[in-house]
Amino acid sequence: MNSPQAYSPKRILVTGGAGFIGSNFVRYLFEKTSLNPSITVLDKLTYAGNLENLADYDGKYTFVKGDICDAELVEKTISESQIDSIVHFAAESHVDRSILGSKVFTETNILGTHVLLEAARNNGVERFVHVSTDEVYGSLGETGYFTETNPIDPTSPYAASKAASDLIVQSYVKTHGFPGLITRCSNNYGPYQFPEKLIPLMITNAFRDKELPVYGDGRNVRDWLHTDDHGAAILTVLQTGKVGEVYNIGGNNEMRNIEIVKLILKTLGKPESLIKFVKDRPAHDKRYAIDASKIKRELGWEPAITFEEGIAATIEWYQQNESWWQRVMTGEYQSYYNEQYANR
Ligand code: NAD
Ligand code: DAU
Repeated sequence: MNSPQAYSPKRILVTGGAGFIGSNFVRYLFEKTSLNPSITVLDKLTYAGNLENLADYDGKYTFVKGDICDAELVEKTISESQIDSIVHFAAESHVDRSILGSKVFTETNILGTHVLLEAARNNGVERFVHVSTDEVYGSLGETGYFTETNPIDPTSPYAASKAASDLIVQSYVKTHGFPGLITRCSNNYGPYQFPEKLIPLMITNAFRDKELPVYGDGRNVRDWLHTDDHGAAILTVLQTGKVGEVYNIGGNNEMRNIEIVKLILKTLGKPESLIKFVKDRPAHDKRYAIDASKIKRELGWEPAITFEEGIAATIEWYQQNESWWQRVMTGEYQSYYNEQYANR
């Protein structure tokens, strides 16, 4: 919603901009808005960071390779680029990895956020959108929805680290009058998603006639939102959200995992015999469902992409961009930075 009173960012820092949602957000800024801000992407390029996601825009934004935990680098990046607003995506984002080893989740998601907050405060940043998740609320039973006033009750080390970072942002708002805003979104899908997450994993396995590993009985529920809709919601919050507020973002689109897996197989004309029920994720949250009425009521945002059109377009994108995911699988994508940037 671009009302005349809307905040107009001029120099945005996008942390984690080489990841799935961050790169789609940068693309969204270039393609779907007339704001034309200068964009700086700060990204460590972990396994999840892929600069090929932004190859179409090489030269049109500033890329800084680095760790959000590196206070000196963060301070320098914000001050040299005279950043006025920050959209903070950088995180370790995969629940299964946090179960295998969570130290880096604590470091990046909690300490990294803290470092950013300090540097933003020192440099008079005007708006700071902290991109959080519905997982901070924990799990729902068969009924009910997460609202912004639900208690924080995270399950996995990933979710706990995001919840902790939310609390630090809120403490800066209360203590220092810091211009922080928090978004809590449901599960995203769309192009450029790393094929460790449910939807791209199932699509790319189905292409190759590999087994589709469904955890437990496949009846866990998630609320799916296309990443372009998430990008639009984040920009809405950046421009018109109220400082200190939390905004839930969701797709009004609850589905069981098994329904999604079967839909992917059907779309690709592959047999359901590829489905393999495997050992459940420890402490697997049963159901997420977002009440996104606040952001609709107060800021006028609601999802524009139906799941039917979004998932069809996403499957088609993976079909047409086989070289993208093949390069992810072979690890070749990690040489892009050295090829394109290291000598600049
Ligand atoms: P992702 O894993 O695809 O991307 C994360 C990005 O952060 C990568 O580019 C990575 O290189 C970078 N990064 C990681 N550690 C870093 C560090 N220490 N310093 C600098 N950069 C670092 O994640 P995503 O799925 O795009 O999620 C982005 C954000 O949105 C996360 O904060 C996540 O918690 C949140 N979120 C994700 C979803 C979802 O469904 N994927 C839903 C709601 C919220
Ligand atoms: O709800 C928002 C969250 O959604 C984000 O905060 C996280 O960053 C993001 O990773 C996502 O978390 P989930 O754990 O819900 O997503 P994931 O794609 O890992 O799993 C979705 C569901 O599918 C979940 O119930 C577990 C199940 N699953 C997942 C994988 C990878 C399977 O059954 N098999 C699998 O192989």
